[in-house]
Amino acid sequence: MSRSFRVGPGGRLVGRIRVPGDKSISHRAVMLGAIADGATRVSGFLTGADAISTMNVFRALGVRIEGPAGGRVIVHGVGLHGLRAAAGALDCGNAGTAMRLLMGLLAGQRFESTLVGDESLSRRPMRRVAEPLQRMGARIETNDGCPPVRILPGDGLHAIRYELPMASAQLKSALLLAGLYASGETVVIEPAPTRDHTERMLRAFGVEVRSAGPAVSLCGGQALHGAPVDVPADLSSAAFFLVGAAIAPGSDLTLEHVGINPTRTGCLEILRRMGADIEILAPRRAGGEPVADLRVRSAALRGIEIPPELVPLAIDEFPALFVAACCAEGRTVVRGAGELRVKESDRIATMAQGLAALGFDTRPTDDGIVIDGRGGDDAVFRAGRALAHHDHRIAMSLAIAALRASGAVEVDDTTNVATSFPGFVEAARGLGLDIEEHGE
Ligand code: S3P
Repeated sequence: MSRSFRVGPGGRLVGRIRVPGDKSISHRAVMLGAIADGATRVSGFLTGADAISTMNVFRALGVRIEGPAGGRVIVHGVGLHGLRAAAGALDCGNAGTAMRLLMGLLAGQRFESTLVGDESLSRRPMRRVAEPLQRMGARIETNDGCPPVRILPGDGLHAIRYELPMASAQLKSALLLAGLYASGETVVIEPAPTRDHTERMLRAFGVEVRSAGPAVSLCGGQALHGAPVDVPADLSSAAFFLVGAAIAPGSDLTLEHVGINPTRTGCLEILRRMGADIEILAPRRAGGEPVADLRVRSAALRGIEIPPELVPLAIDEFPALFVAACCAEGRTVVRGAGELRVKESDRIATMAQGLAALGFDTRPTDDGIVIDGRGGDDAVFRAGRALAHHDHRIAMSLAIAALRASGAVEVDDTTNVATSFPGFVEAARGLGLDIEEHGE
């Protein structure tokens, strides 16, 4: 049985909230903690299904993990060579990050593993990771480039120097993790900066990671030492409320302890360029990551041409940004965002369909979208029923659109919201969204 949302039209978002922990950092805390020496104590861990999938995978690989209890997790590391073969296939659920980073990490092990995922993950491209790993000497089989992924023990990995064909932090991270098991220095060159949580956390765990312009490199065989990880609130989850407060007149919202790593803040820059009123309050550090409180108040938005260099830095926030663009005066143009087509759904197509179901036509292109926004304070969407296509971020973005709708917005297939934002419905309701959830 699937769940669905029914969101009443209008309203505003007011109050303070700390959204759940960062998904990217939660995955990495478990992975690096598992192959470290000693214990890694994690606070603020995301108890969403994606991060839990990663935890369960490492339990199956012989790692003792306590929690999550109140966002606290203790990973009892087994050291670089302490993982053991699992009894069965390793289920990554909906989590592309889990699967891709695990491919890199498992490529260096002396045992066989099989990675599987749900329906959406089973359609996502894995060749982009398998191919460079094979060049490093890994033995990897895919189902025509998609999961399941079978990783066989080989004769050991050797370092490569690799120019990434696309801006992907998952691919960069997979190669760095494989590089820990490779002889020599693995060098990864990015076409554009992407999130650097892996590099930061590796350094915090005592690994020497070098950065020189677009190149990041590490030498194999370095031991990791367990370290505390304070996971900030996920900017990608905060983004739904940032957009919601920006578009709903009378809103005034503070999002607490949000990660503002500069490789993630493209959405803040884009919203500000669109005229959003966002204040960054009390900037500070949590572990190796910058965090702040974000105060957002509604403001008149205007359409912009999104600078291509901001695209990888806002890649997960585009579904919500499309909603903002619909409510902005004038045209918003997104280009160079073809990666959106291979996320949990084809986010260009699924958002265009969802917005059309709410009476708003957009113009999707191969690698982006053109949105002629309506501006003003009136409703820009009408009552309708839209599909989330198994994609958490599509579901939450369409729910937020109800703030500027003339009638109720229904969103079907919302079960996967729990992958990244458990408690979304209660959180959104507490801030003023008239949202109910139905189904099992
Ligand atoms: C992630 C990287 C991004 C992002 C995903 C999480 C990560 O994917 O979309 O949600 O944690 O490294 P790509 O690196 O494939 O763009």
